[in-house]
Amino acid sequence: MCGIVGYIGESQAAPILLEGLAKLEYRGYDSAGIAVYDGSQINMMKSVGRLKVLNELTHDGETLPGTLGIGHTRWATHGSPNDVNAHPHYNSDNTIAVVHNGIIENYMKLRKRLTAHGYTFISETDTEVVAHLLDYYYKGNPIETIIKVMHRVEGSYALGIIFKDHPDEVYAVRKDSPLIVGHTKDGNILASDVPAVLKYTRNVYFIENEEIVRLSKTDMKFYNVDEEELEKEATTIEWDVSAAEKGGYEHYMLKEMYEQPKAVRDTISPADPRIVNNKIEISELNMTDEEICSIHKLYIVACGSAYHAGVTGKYVIEGLARIPVEVDLASEFRYRDPIYEKNSMAIIISQSGETADSLAALRDAKAHGIKVLGIVNVVGSSIAREADSVMYTWAGPEIAVATTKAYSAQLIALYLLAMKFAYTRQQIDDNELQTLIKDLRKLPEQMELLLNNKEKIQHFANRYIASRDVFFIGRGIDYAISLEGSLKLKEISYIHSEAYAAGELKHGTISLIEEGTLVAAVLTQEQLYKKTISNMVEVKSRGAFVLAVTNTGNTEVEKAADYVIYIPQTNKYFANSLAIIPLQLFGYYVSLGKGCDIDKPRNLAKSVTVE
Ligand code: F6R
Repeated sequence: MCGIVGYIGESQAAPILLEGLAKLEYRGYDSAGIAVYDGSQINMMKSVGRLKVLNELTHDGETLPGTLGIGHTRWATHGSPNDVNAHPHYNSDNTIAVVHNGIIENYMKLRKRLTAHGYTFISETDTEVVAHLLDYYYKGNPIETIIKVMHRVEGSYALGIIFKDHPDEVYAVRKDSPLIVGHTKDGNILASDVPAVLKYTRNVYFIENEEIVRLSKTDMKFYNVDEEELEKEATTIEWDVSAAEKGGYEHYMLKEMYEQPKAVRDTISPADPRIVNNKIEISELNMTDEEICSIHKLYIVACGSAYHAGVTGKYVIEGLARIPVEVDLASEFRYRDPIYEKNSMAIIISQSGETADSLAALRDAKAHGIKVLGIVNVVGSSIAREADSVMYTWAGPEIAVATTKAYSAQLIALYLLAMKFAYTRQQIDDNELQTLIKDLRKLPEQMELLLNNKEKIQHFANRYIASRDVFFIGRGIDYAISLEGSLKLKEISYIHSEAYAAGELKHGTISLIEEGTLVAAVLTQEQLYKKTISNMVEVKSRGAFVLAVTNTGNTEVEKAADYVIYIPQTNKYFANSLAIIPLQLFGYYVSLGKGCDIDKPRNLAKSVTVE
């Protein structure tokens, strides 16, 4: 979603802002802008479209001289993407400029009041309300003014603010939308996300909710809403800078697909290894064996692909550990007034750790006294910090909007949990555990084999570039794989696609099958082969072209499929980790063939910080 960068120091601000915004492009945006103070006034340049346009308009920042400024990439929520709605926004006499991530929920009410006080609005945004509200309360003290505004606005925000009257300072404040600050060699930088500052520093300060920061060239000071100064400690970001670069690949998505074996290895064996003496050790869980044995129910809550990982998690945890699992979309869970059972635990899965609905679900569970485990990729993110315990997925920075390696790492975290719970609760014995561990350790190598076979998938994908609809079908875990395969295809290629539990076809969907419609059937669960093959025959006899993704050795499937992709043999609970690879590659190559913007699909954002 939106991105914020701010800078104050000895260097020219505009090129640093533009470069920082470029590092946040992956989050998704539709317009961008920067505001720079030039010693006498705040100048601004904004433009709809890609950052390239803003770079051209400002001659790579040269036309906006000055050593302090703020910048923004906007993903439209209030008002369409256009130059006027793009951030930054000014107050009426251009003495205050503000950039904003999040949503001001009571903006209509505030807008009415400010209009009654004589303020004129030029944009449709909720953010302009903040600019005028700052103006309304401003009596010369920025911190005091920001606090007054904080008391009036409802919703979520990360704000970057500059005041013409305070030409040596940049201000920022947050509530429910991430912000970090760090020192550069000649000043200070602020951003909504780590990649924007990595070039300058690895030591960042996370701004907590309702904290304000004042940056000057040489100093940064933090305040709470009572205007008291706060002491904060820096967190060191371990990411390798190159991990957030394309490294010779045509797209981040392709690079990240190729990083999946490493993401899986690192999630199995991070610095604090999760397999020790052939037993599963998840120290982050902070749970005794008795506590694990007393769990009655698990609630897995997430959005999008993380939810799909959760659907797989349900099958794996219920199958291995025999603990009942409810899996929910966070946007549904938070409003469905869930009945929390005693001795239950919630697992919130999120790559970014900032997804608004997932965070709200976490807070709801905690408010009901439920222990929350976060399965999170971004270290120090809101979900990681608010969960009672956090199990990190060590996938490294994921830049492509469509997740691949973080999803694969989420699956591994869920397998490890399932194995830990199953063994502790004596649902599997040591022999079974050792077999599972052996199969788990084999996954990265097996994934590499599938990735190296990409030409075959590319060749096949090229035939389906002009498809109108594609269906994915499967049963049990294969249904969960289908959900993710379908999402990967549609979100980056814009081809309509649906995933169905194969047994549901006859209840309506089959009427959509026409001559030549592509149906991708996933068959990794041996006990369900025959059932799914029957469904394949049903669609094939109605004209569908059937692609099957199945285990090596299941040649039976060839009778009902037009094209088969075999995956290496693994434990039935781990099949998702392998079957998803050809489906990710399929989505990627269809999108490539269509010439879509693979890493930044239209309308999508990497981190969905509004509900
Ligand atoms: C799809 C995708 C999204 C995310 C979803 C949740 O490829 O990436 O569906 O999975 O927006 O995001 P996180 O995991 O950051 O909570």
